[in-house]
Amino acid sequence: MDIFRICGGNPLHGKVKVSGSKNSALPLFAASLLTEEETILENVPDLSDVNFMAEILTELGAKVIRISSNSWSIIPSSIVHYAPYELVRKMRASICLLGPLVARLKRAEIPMPGGCVIGNRPIDLHVRALEALGAKVQLSGGVVKVDGKNISGNSVFIGGRHGSTVTGTANALMLAVLTPGSTVLEGCACEPEITDLCHMLESMGANIQGIGSHLLKIEGVDKLSGCKHRVIPDRIEAGTYILAGAITGGELTIEGIDFGHMGSFLDLLKTSGVSLVPQNQSIISSVPTSLKPLEVVTLPFPGFPTDLQAQMCALASITEGLSVITERVYPSRFMHVPELLRMGAHISIEGSSAIIRGAKRLTGAPVMASDLRASAALILAGLAAEGETWVQRIYHLDRGYEKFEHKLQKLGAKVERLPESELPKSISSANN
Ligand code: EPZ
Repeated sequence: MDIFRICGGNPLHGKVKVSGSKNSALPLFAASLLTEEETILENVPDLSDVNFMAEILTELGAKVIRISSNSWSIIPSSIVHYAPYELVRKMRASICLLGPLVARLKRAEIPMPGGCVIGNRPIDLHVRALEALGAKVQLSGGVVKVDGKNISGNSVFIGGRHGSTVTGTANALMLAVLTPGSTVLEGCACEPEITDLCHMLESMGANIQGIGSHLLKIEGVDKLSGCKHRVIPDRIEAGTYILAGAITGGELTIEGIDFGHMGSFLDLLKTSGVSLVPQNQSIISSVPTSLKPLEVVTLPFPGFPTDLQAQMCALASITEGLSVITERVYPSRFMHVPELLRMGAHISIEGSSAIIRGAKRLTGAPVMASDLRASAALILAGLAAEGETWVQRIYHLDRGYEKFEHKLQKLGAKVERLPESELPKSISSANN
C-alpha cells in the first residue's frame, strides 16, 4: 500500500486540468451493456474504479479494450447476467449493472454492494424502481437476483428520505429505455452525471424527456445502438483543486471546468471570501483576504455536494471563527474528523454537524485515509499544515483522483508517493 509524504506551507500556483468525471464514467460503462454494438468512451479518467468496472464488464463477457489512457471501447455482443462477487464487492457503483442487465437479458444477479465508511448504502430505492417496472427482486445470500421477464412501463417515485438517489436514478433510467411502454420516473436525481448518462442514452437511440429535471419520461424502444461519448469533467475534482488553492493561500487556474455543474459550491466559497474569476472554460481561484467562517449543508444537486464536505472541513479547520458543516446526505460521513484533530484542528461532531473553530495553523502528523474524499481532505490539510504529514492507505485516493500527486507537484506542492515501507519506524510501530 502506498503512502504520501507532504511538506506543507507552500501556497500552490499554476494551472491544473480537470479530468473526466468518475461518477459519470462508471454508470456510462454500465450503460454500454444496453447494446450489442460498440461504445467508445472518451475523456475517461485513469482511476482504479474505472479499471475495476472494465474488469467486471470483461467478466460479464464484453470485449473491453483500452484505446488510450483516457478512452475505452466496449463491445458487449454476448454477455452473462451475473457479476463476480470478488470484483463487485470492491465498488458500490457496480450496483449500476442491475438496470442494463435486466433491460438487455431480462435477468441479473449482482452481489449486494459492500457498505463503506461514509455510511449506510441501502438499495431499497433501486429495488422499488425495478419492481415498479414489473421485475421480481429477491435478496438472498448477499445477492440481488432480478427476474425481468415481464417488465413494462410504469410511473414510480424514486426519491428517498435523504433525497434523490444518483445510482438509483441511473438504474431506473437504464432499465426504462428498453422497457416496453411509457415510464415516468419522479423524484430523480438531477446531478450532472445523470444528465450525462441521459445524453449518452439519447445518442444510442433512447427516447427521454425532462433531461436535467427531477421528472423523466421515457418511451421504451426495442433496441439501442452503439455510440461514441465524451465523459463530462469531474466537478468534485475541480472543487477539490479550488479548495487546495484556497487552503494554501495560492492562486490556481482550474481548466476544463463546467460552471453549470458547480451548483452552490462556487457561491458558498465566494461568500466565504474566495475570489473566483471565470475565464472561458477555466476559473481563477485566489484568496485576497482572510476567509470568513462557513455554514454548509450538503444536499442533492444543485445543493452543496456531499463529496466536497470532507475537503471543506479541512478548509474550515484553518478559517478563523466558527464554521458549521452539516451532512444531510450521509449523516455519519465524518471519518476524516479524528485525523484532522491529530493535525491540531478544533472540531466537534454534534449529530450530523461538524462544529469547527478555525486554528491559526495545522501541524503535520501521520494520518490514515478512510475513504476517497477523506483522503483528499487529509492531503489538503497536509498541504496547509506546518511540517510533515504522512497520509497512509492512499489506495482510497487512487479510486477517484487521476494523477493527484503529479498534478499537485506541478502546482508547487511538496508531495511524494512512497511505498509503505518508507514510513518512519516511529509511525509504523505506533500503527501496530
Ligand atoms: C453517488 O452514490 C456517488 N457515487 C457518491 O460519490 C455520492 O456521494 C452520492 O451519489 C451522493 O451524491 C457514484 O456516483 C458512483 P445515492 P450513490 O444513492 O448513488 C440514500 C464519491 O466519493 N439511499 O445518491 O450510491 C443513501 O443512503 C462517492 O465519489 C437510500 O436510502 O448515492 C444516501 O443517504 C461517495 N436508498 C442518499 O440516498 C437507496 O436505495 C444518496 O445516495 C439509495 C440511496
